[in-house]
Amino acid sequence: MNPPMGKGSSMEAPFDVTVKLGAQRRCKIWAIGGGKGGVGKSLVTANLSICLALMGHKVVAIDLDLGGANLHTCLGVSIPDKTLSDFLNKKVSNPCDLMTRTAIQNLTLISGAQDDMGIANLKQMHKAKILSHLDDLGADFVLFDLGAGTTFNTLDFFIVADQGILITLPEPTSIENTYRFIKSVFHRKLKLAEELLEIGPLIDKAMNARISDNSTPADLVHRVIEINPQIGQKLQYEINKLTPKLILNQVRTQADVDIGHSMRIICRKYFGIELEYTGHLDYDATVWQSVKKRRPLLLEFPNSGLVHNFDRIVHKLLGAR
Ligand SMILES: Nc1ncnc2c1ncn2[C@@H]1O[C@H](COP(=O)(O)OP(=O)(O)O)[C@@H](O)[C@H]1O
Ligand SMILES: [Mg+2]
Repeated sequence: MNPPMGKGSSMEAPFDVTVKLGAQRRCKIWAIGGGKGGVGKSLVTANLSICLALMGHKVVAIDLDLGGANLHTCLGVSIPDKTLSDFLNKKVSNPCDLMTRTAIQNLTLISGAQDDMGIANLKQMHKAKILSHLDDLGADFVLFDLGAGTTFNTLDFFIVADQGILITLPEPTSIENTYRFIKSVFHRKLKLAEELLEIGPLIDKAMNARISDNSTPADLVHRVIEINPQIGQKLQYEINKLTPKLILNQVRTQADVDIGHSMRIICRKYFGIELEYTGHLDYDATVWQSVKKRRPLLLEFPNSGLVHNFDRIVHKLLGAR
């Protein structure tokens, strides 16, 4: 389980206003991401949404895996008539008209695009439109199912969230992808901070350094503090705000469970950030059985061990900063 190797993705985008929209929202946003496809993001989004709704919160789950949307299946509803595309293309003006009821009281779904619109193609104004209308939905919690990849759009939806939740499998490819995702989030977040514009080139250099250069993103802060203590403090402030949560999925052994702790330690050492290990989900055959039946896991198998896993995780997330 090595820290991320090689060069980071190139990040030359200018300051992005959408990220600023994060501050004044009434609803809480939880974004579920993590770089790789097939690791359980939709399963987690669906079942965390159900947990919150069963606790009495009003929840809207939004499928932002544009181009590969299937959150509806995990929630046991057929493909909704109206999708985000209709809102972005102005066929639907009120975002509440996109909300599809589910079998769970308090939980509705907004489906992702069913056309060819990929998340990479989402325009800045579309992203801003989605974010600026979230409070119109009247929800206590809005959950984003982010889909795979590290495009700016995916990173930005992760960054604006109150809780950014990463799903990883206990296998090298998935772990590597998770580090890559964290690195991209870290880079993007620092590049979006207006106060840090003047050290942009230094940030790029630190993020693109190879392990063999003996330079890590965590070293960046020390270097900036030496050169310019005031900017160093701002940098440290931005980094302190970055506290992604980690869920290890499809766990089979204690050694699998322990991977989460190792990843936390590596993130602190390499990035200087606190990755919070929120918990693990056991590998459980009830998952594919419920997917096959197109029924939400928590409703179909209420006594499955996974229900306890989810319960613990949701309580931890509710108490997290
Ligand atoms: N805890 C688990 N136990 C067993 N199978 C799982 C588990 N989590 C996910 N899966 C399997 O992985 C598949 C992919 O999950 P999904 O949520 O669609 O991933 P993603 O949204 O990340 O692409 C599921 O259909 C299911 O078969
Ligand atoms: Mg998915």
